[in-house]
This record gives sequence, C-alpha cells and structure tokens, in this order.
Amino acid sequence: MKKITIIGAGNVGAHAAVSAATLELGSIILLDQNADLAKGKALDITQSMALFHNDIVVTGTGDYQDTAGSDIVIITAGVSRKPGMSRDDLLEINANIVVSIVKQVVEYSPNCILIIVTNPINTMVQLAYETSGFSKERVIGMAGILDGGRFKYYIAKELNVGASEVTTMVLGDHGELMVPLEDHCQVSGQPIAELMSRERIESIVHKVQHAGSVIVNLLKTGSAYFAPGLAVIQIAKAIIRDEHKTLPCAVYLEGEYGVDGSFVGVPVVLGRDGIEKIVEIHLSEKESEAFNISVAHIKQRTNELKQKRV
Ligand code: 2OP
Repeated sequence: MKKITIIGAGNVGAHAAVSAATLELGSIILLDQNADLAKGKALDITQSMALFHNDIVVTGTGDYQDTAGSDIVIITAGVSRKPGMSRDDLLEINANIVVSIVKQVVEYSPNCILIIVTNPINTMVQLAYETSGFSKERVIGMAGILDGGRFKYYIAKELNVGASEVTTMVLGDHGELMVPLEDHCQVSGQPIAELMSRERIESIVHKVQHAGSVIVNLLKTGSAYFAPGLAVIQIAKAIIRDEHKTLPCAVYLEGEYGVDGSFVGVPVVLGRDGIEKIVEIHLSEKESEAFNISVAHIKQRTNELKQKRV
C-alpha cells in the first residue's frame, strides 16, 4: 500500500486527506505542528470513511518520524490570504515555512515525490526543488487543475451545459496573470469561439483569473479549500495509479516553451515516477503573449525572494 503524507492540517490539507481517503489511494499521514489538530481531523476523517465501508486509515501526528518512507508528500502548510491580499503577499512568510518543512521531509522520505500547494505556488515549488535536491521529475506544483476546474465552471454556467462537457487548459502562474487558453477550450469538442462572442469569452477569462479572490472575499477568514484539496489529489492519484494522464502542473522548465530555469504551469504526463513528459502545445499569438507576461511575473517574484534570502 502506498503511503501519502499531507503536511498542514488546515482546510486544504484536511480536504486533501478526505479526497485521498475517499479514493482509497493508500495509508494517509496528516501532519501539523499542532499535533492535536491533525489527530482530531484524522480521527474524524477515518470515522467518516467507516460509513462508506472504506478501510482507509488517516493518522494524525506532529512528528516527522511518522512520515518516514512516504511515496508522496503534499505540502499545504502556510498562511493563506485574507481579503485585500494577493498570493504574492505571502511570499516571505511561506518561504520560511516551506524550507523548514522540505528539510524534514527529505530526511525521512528521501525517495518521495513532492507536491506543493502553498502559495505563491510557482515560487514555493521552486524553493522546494532547490531545498530538496530532488530531480525535477519529483517536484510538482498544483495550480492549473484548480484553475481549469474554475474555467469549466464558468463556461458551463454561461452555456447551461454540464461542466464535464467542457475541456480547459490553464497555464503560467497561479495568480491573476494565469493564462486560461481560450483557443484550447472546447465544449463537447466544439471550440468556445463558435459558441460565444469574444467579449463573453474575455469576461469569463477575467472571472477565472479572479475566482480565488471572490472566494477569499466571501469567506473573509481564508481562501478556498474544497477545490484545491481535491485538485492536488488528482495529481497524487495519477502518480499512484500510474495513469499516464496529462494534467496542467507547475513544473521545472529547461527550454520548453522558451523558458529556462523556472517553475511554470504547463501540461505534463504523470505516472508512477512523477513527471513523465512535458507536453508542448501550440499557443496562439495572443496566448503566447499572455504566457510570456505570466512567466516574467514568476521570474520577478522568485528573484525578489532570492534577494531577500541572501
Ligand atoms: C485559490 O486559488 C488557494 O490559491 C488558492 O483558491
């Protein structure tokens, strides 16, 4: 049985644990510096699984020894944004948290695959990569799956169709400069440009880019967690079940899409060993322009952090 560790028993971590348990992906460790919080949520989740005749056990802990030998480690720990904040405002505080966690993860699970959810994701995953010393195939940031789900939702709502009929792809940074690919979005195989006007498409793209803030402003105490918790488990599932599935993730690019040395959201094939392949899809001129702006923002933020940390 595979072992999955989720670091951070806040809302995203707990929902990731519920999703992983529901899908029976393996034995699950939920770790938090507040061990009782992790233990309480783990008990609650395990008891809820008993109602499904599902034997998965979630173990709560505050001790990294319990995570030893994990196949997958998901990092959700960190501060989430409040109304008026951007994901970039979390840069320094979450950087310190991620570095200290990754060091402990590597000590106990040197062969794991790391998946980062902590914001700002594209910079946090780069930090995790550099701190861990892992190969680029084993360090992945969650972003495009969540943003793609939101894109599906808004298109489905606008056209009054089921969200499962909609195919989307969102690349670049997980922030307001993310790039929902208009020309790659289809409803049952039909391009959206044939179904709605350019103005309507642009208004939906704007909604997708700001979907996280809408939820932050409604919740007032933190950010979204149901969809982020489920989205990260889509990555874990593709790896554990060796699905060879293509999903958008923030991965280390070395020349692909004309980018070198940054973690950027692009489609990748995921299987047992992590990233099997980076898929290079053709971008239209408009998509390409937006993608380059998004990458420039990731680089600027990552450099800003580097300067602060030297
Ligand atoms: C979001 O987009 C938390 O960044 C996450 O809701």
